Amino acid sequence: MAMREIKTGILYVGSNHWDRRLFDELIPLPDGTTYNSYLIFGSEKTALIDSVDPDKQHELIANLENQNLKKLDYVISNHAEQDHSGSIPKVLEAFPGAKVVTNEKCKTMLMELLLLPEEKFITISDKSTISIGDRTLEFIIAPWVHWPETMLTYLREDKMLFPCDLFGAHLATSDLYANDRARVYESAKRYYAEIMMPFRNVIQKHLTKLEDFPMEIIAPSHGPVHRDVNFIIDAYRDWTSDTVKNEVILPYVSMHGSTEKMVQYFIDALIKRDITVKPFNLTKTDIGELAIALVDAATIVIAAPTVLVGPHPAAVYATYLANALRPKARYASVIGSYGWGGKMLEHITSMLGNLKVELLQPVIAKGHPKESDFEAVEKLADAILERHRGIGIV
Ligand code: FEO
Repeated sequence: MAMREIKTGILYVGSNHWDRRLFDELIPLPDGTTYNSYLIFGSEKTALIDSVDPDKQHELIANLENQNLKKLDYVISNHAEQDHSGSIPKVLEAFPGAKVVTNEKCKTMLMELLLLPEEKFITISDKSTISIGDRTLEFIIAPWVHWPETMLTYLREDKMLFPCDLFGAHLATSDLYANDRARVYESAKRYYAEIMMPFRNVIQKHLTKLEDFPMEIIAPSHGPVHRDVNFIIDAYRDWTSDTVKNEVILPYVSMHGSTEKMVQYFIDALIKRDITVKPFNLTKTDIGELAIALVDAATIVIAAPTVLVGPHPAAVYATYLANALRPKARYASVIGSYGWGGKMLEHITSMLGNLKVELLQPVIAKGHPKESDFEAVEKLADAILERHRGIGIV
């Protein structure tokens, strides 16, 4: 991606990865992603904030070479994951005098992941500062966004925050700034859901800590730069809050139609009760869309048939994912069917241990659902309405 000036002496030197469609061989990237790296000139020294994925290191090096840099003093590493750190060895090769500035834990991880020698590092701690002349870099240790070593860098005089993954979005775009709010909001929410949601509680604390830092620009390491910082901070406050919405998330799969009939009946039962329902047919859904939906919903209901005594594998995957992402849902239940036996219900409920949910009476049909099964589905919808009313979201 072409170099861009954010303000005098602060350049975007990162890269767009337009056609990347999978991250960590796991997370769908419908809109590609960016690896943002920023070059900061002080009156005495020069610092690079994070590098880029090794796939794009040639673009980063070309951007730095275009600056005719005589020397680079510091490479600030906010996060050891390779999409930001992976090109550091190449940068150090190009600028042998540069030192990698990071915290102790990140240093250890970078030495293990990139085989960097210890003498290449300057280790900082929380609130440490480094002067580059007329600009000051201040470091904020912020673990678990989303690895244990993560930190944020604050450029004091410019009131700029470089939070690496935090506030990021997997969105390849020619816009340097978050001008297209609807698109950026959706991408940032997807990113939060997939990457940050398991650490919701710790992020709440980081948001409080950041109130002490006046901010005019937030420049994350994925997606566009934020000049309206409250846009992304307020979104994060909402997503990480304890407030849930009057929504039921319904990941489902059906083999011969029994579970499907109950799912369709349940959808109508919820709609009649003015409860928003978001069904996801697991044979077709983008798992990222499911993750986004999990951010706000009060209730999760998983619907699955029985295969070889357990749940359909697609439901196992969705349940595993929902449990791993630790959404703030308060209630859960199961709808399903079986032919002759099995422990589908026990398998699913045993996989929800991370969730702080009340399990509502499940509905499991033997074979084709009967009148009594549909009545039980009605009762489940009633129970959800009652619970949602009880917490004041209806
Ligand atoms: Fe964008 Fe956790 O790396």
